[in-house]
Amino acid sequence: DWSMENFIEVEVEKIRQIVGDKNVLCAMSGGVDSSVVAVLMHKAIGDQLTCIFVDHGLLRKNEAEEVMDTFANGFNINIIKVDAKDRFLSKLAGVSDPEKKRKIIGNEFIYVFDDEASKLEGIDYLAQGTLYTDIIESGTATAQTIKSHHNVGGLPEDMQFQLIEPLNTLFKDEVRALGSELGIPDHIVWRQPFPGPGLGIRVLGEISEEKLEIVRESDAILREEVRNHGLEREIWQYFTVLPDIRSVGVMGDARTYDYTIGIRAVTSIDGMTSDWARIPWEVLEVISTRIVNEVAHVNRVVYDITSKPPATIEWE
Ligand code: XMP
Repeated sequence: DWSMENFIEVEVEKIRQIVGDKNVLCAMSGGVDSSVVAVLMHKAIGDQLTCIFVDHGLLRKNEAEEVMDTFANGFNINIIKVDAKDRFLSKLAGVSDPEKKRKIIGNEFIYVFDDEASKLEGIDYLAQGTLYTDIIESGTATAQTIKSHHNVGGLPEDMQFQLIEPLNTLFKDEVRALGSELGIPDHIVWRQPFPGPGLGIRVLGEISEEKLEIVRESDAILREEVRNHGLEREIWQYFTVLPDIRSVGVMGDARTYDYTIGIRAVTSIDGMTSDWARIPWEVLEVISTRIVNEVAHVNRVVYDITSKPPATIEWE
């Protein structure tokens, strides 16, 4: 794609001009935008870039390993992975209100990032994956806040960095094209949206390690089967949730009293509205059977057939 090649050349030159021999920090979430920023910045300034990747313990199965493997090993980018699971889980203990959970996770993310950043010396710039759409949306804050959206990458107000936002003229589809041109693998370029608070808002109510494990394992099965059946590009977002209920089941001769897993899969353009995805029944059957057989403490699987509105995509 000529225009993207050209964009890269021009942008790389611009970044070099701005940064000079200074150092740049970047918050890597593994999402499309921060991945593209990191690879583009790295192409321009190499080891003058350091990324911080906060593992809050609310990531999907193998996600932290995959991020490190792709960017640290694959692209040779300096990435510091911060294992902050205990910090987040202890702050979240006893909290069941969704908005409180979001606030705690968003704030803790900033504290952890700040702590890590303050250990580094000689950083002048902060690179962020702000898109053109983000600028438009924050410029016209007319919509009522239904859920507070703390994106990974929210930053402390007193931070002493100058911002570099190399994607702020681009729309999402252009960012994906740029990512592909930069050699970022398809599974990242075409990654489904994943909320900053992660599995923290997919374990409904109070979070525990056991519940996180259930939602993580069931989600991994769902993703694997969606991929096996070639449905990834047809479904906008798909994940499992763990409602805070248990119900009666039977396994062999024994009565069980275990958790229910909800499957949420939607089609959408931008997440503002959505319809439930018509996943073929045979595929749902495979997913359901695998989840009850492979995930301990789950004896029932339900499929969410609500559109947005009136439901939201996430259950919290
Ligand atoms: P809802 O549930 O509001 O979600 O229909 C719309 C889209 O936004 C994502 N989402 C979030 N993203 N922080 C995020 O970064 C959040 O707190 C958050 N809540 C929802 C959701 O996954 C969907 O793509």
